[in-house]
Amino acid sequence: MIRIDKNESPYRALTDEEISQLAVDTHFNQYADDEYADLQRSYAAFNNLDPELTSFANGSDEWIQKSMIVLADGPVLVLEPDFVMYEVYAKQFNRPLTKINCREDWTFDYDEIYNTIKELRPSVFIFSQPNNPIGTLHPADFIQKAAELMKEVNGYLIIDEAYGEFNQEPTDYPKGDHVVRFRTLSKVYGLAGLRVGVAVATKATIDKLNSIAHPYPLNTFSLNVSNYLLNQTERLEEFIEMNRQLSRKLLRIFKEEVGDVITVIDSSTNFVLTYGEKAVDLGEYVVSNGFLPRMYPESDNAALRATVRYSIAKDEQLDELQKILKEWRNQQ
Ligand SMILES: Cc1ncc(COP(=O)(O)O)c(C=O)c1O
Repeated sequence: MIRIDKNESPYRALTDEEISQLAVDTHFNQYADDEYADLQRSYAAFNNLDPELTSFANGSDEWIQKSMIVLADGPVLVLEPDFVMYEVYAKQFNRPLTKINCREDWTFDYDEIYNTIKELRPSVFIFSQPNNPIGTLHPADFIQKAAELMKEVNGYLIIDEAYGEFNQEPTDYPKGDHVVRFRTLSKVYGLAGLRVGVAVATKATIDKLNSIAHPYPLNTFSLNVSNYLLNQTERLEEFIEMNRQLSRKLLRIFKEEVGDVITVIDSSTNFVLTYGEKAVDLGEYVVSNGFLPRMYPESDNAALRATVRYSIAKDEQLDELQKILKEWRNQQ
């Protein structure tokens, strides 16, 4: 089965020789030393950030969990659908959770969100930008307004940018102790298995998140591979661009081959969400032909149960997927 259900990069950015050398050079008999500070510098330099205001943990998953422990001392507000782990971690710590559903066309009523913030006064409002699983971006004025309202109610606005690199529009983020951004090396950097998640916030908020940090938050191999990659700017930019190209190709294939019979949502990520009467039938056909997309039979959300989400794959695998879509379309 070719896995296209977890929104990963289908390629690694480094050669086998480089990876072997990095393993040999990693002194894992010792605790990490300067490697963490090196990653702060290399990640911040590549992303035009202040190294002091970036911090790392085992995937953004760990940051989401930490935020539920130390930032959420009251209700948590999330959108539906969104990344399922927000709910899972909120429940682990018995945080009362409120969900705001999207409309039938997979857009959100932002006025409803503003009113809910005013009434509920959440301690944390977390959402993904672009949204997983929908693939779309929330408008910048919504983020600004949501940040202002969260400040008024003394809560935190957490913007989870796991797929942020797929949006190339310049973005002006709201600033202040009440704003946190989570990013990751799992997607466009191709390091999902190494578990490197990034928090970007003010010093006060980073300190609060790190009040429950471990002494060596990341393993030395993950630190060394990340540093090695981030220090090769040109090559990394090419790798990121290749992931973007595959994402455009994936969207194009779906629109061209099956866009007249199922709805394919325009995506700003490395996956596409499809829905409509025949979407699940196509998903099952794709599964029977050796690709594993994400289907949601277990979801409480009936609308989501009728969707299928497909992530990027290797270039030649996308060609194969295109043939499968064509075959299915010819049978309709
Ligand atoms: C929106 C979103 N946030 C966070 C994550 C988790 O990322 P990480 O691998 O950094 O834990 C994912 C993974 O799919 C995701 O889709």
